[in-house]
Amino acid sequence: MPSNKKLLVLPGDGIGPEVVREVLRVVDWMDKRRHVSFDLSEDLVGGAAIDAYGTPLKEETLEAAKASDAVLFGSVGGPQWDVLPFDQRPERGILGLRKGMQLFANLRPAKVFDALVDASTLKNEIVQGLDILILRELTGGIYFGEPRGIETLPDGTRRGINTQVYTTPEIERIARVGFELAQKRAKRVMSVEKANVMESGVLWREEVQKLHDAEFQDVELQHMYADNCAMQLVRAPKQFDVIVTDNLFGDILSDCAAMLTGSLGMLPSASLGAVDPTTGRRMALYEPIHGSAPDIAGQGKANPLAQMLSLSMLLRYSFDMNEDADLIENAVENVLKAGIRTGDIVGPGMKPVSTTQMTDAILKELDAQAA
Ligand code: IPM
Ligand code: MG
Repeated sequence: MPSNKKLLVLPGDGIGPEVVREVLRVVDWMDKRRHVSFDLSEDLVGGAAIDAYGTPLKEETLEAAKASDAVLFGSVGGPQWDVLPFDQRPERGILGLRKGMQLFANLRPAKVFDALVDASTLKNEIVQGLDILILRELTGGIYFGEPRGIETLPDGTRRGINTQVYTTPEIERIARVGFELAQKRAKRVMSVEKANVMESGVLWREEVQKLHDAEFQDVELQHMYADNCAMQLVRAPKQFDVIVTDNLFGDILSDCAAMLTGSLGMLPSASLGAVDPTTGRRMALYEPIHGSAPDIAGQGKANPLAQMLSLSMLLRYSFDMNEDADLIENAVENVLKAGIRTGDIVGPGMKPVSTTQMTDAILKELDAQAA
């Protein structure tokens, strides 16, 4: 069944281009072996776009992203651009895409592969079999709230301002995604805020509860303060199924959850918009959670698996290609079982492989599975 799926590839900076290049080999494999043709286009974003076009996100790039069926994103940022003013930094590239495409739902699964249980800094029994999903609100809250800025006061001192703000519809739509995802999993949602200190947290809690009582009584809902959640994530992470939280808490808690799995280099994410009621289409962007890792960029050391698993999420959520998504996930699992590891997840007595060698192993595994 050949079909044209419009895919925009935005490798970005640092290790982004290195891992994206490897994942395109898997896309190519899919094309040849599974007869899925992707209509690929590629563009610069972040620091690379600043250097080439003078802006981290061109208007045309955003338009192309909106018109594509899915965006495969690498990572942005690097020390050479940290001197730039805030609104011109590489990070504005990804933030502009999230906001411009209205990707309000950010799925960050944290799953511990059996073969990697020793890579975690936590005791085996705490993380073995862990499978949780952090659902982060991605287009609101303090990341985008107004007023914001740095101002100079009459006495010459300065004041920095950001605003945490959420409305009922913003809370409702992310909570709805959370309940729907939980329905396909263990049917438990933990809603996380700071209702003990913040009015936006009180509203969050009330609206999530209201939606639950009206439409999702088959899902178990509990509430937790964000600080306690950070603590519980390292104390007993398996108590969670789906965690629904705001933009800033989600940023922090997902890094914490990522480390439970042993390496940031393993975790994919999906950022989804609302389903268009007329076309049934939903805008989507897939990116690994790890950043651009400038310290190891250009050395062939990066772990391509988070990017690989981001492709798997892309196939699953944007194209309903569950079988193909499973193929990739099984390949990752088997390669890890065989003891093939990049430096970030290498165990004692193992020799780390390069980014390309890891991909070679994945392709070989895919061949074996498809044979
Ligand atoms: C993330 C990152 C981004 C964020 C940065 C790069 C803007 O930390 O995706 O978690 O803060 O959202
Ligand atoms: Mg982050």
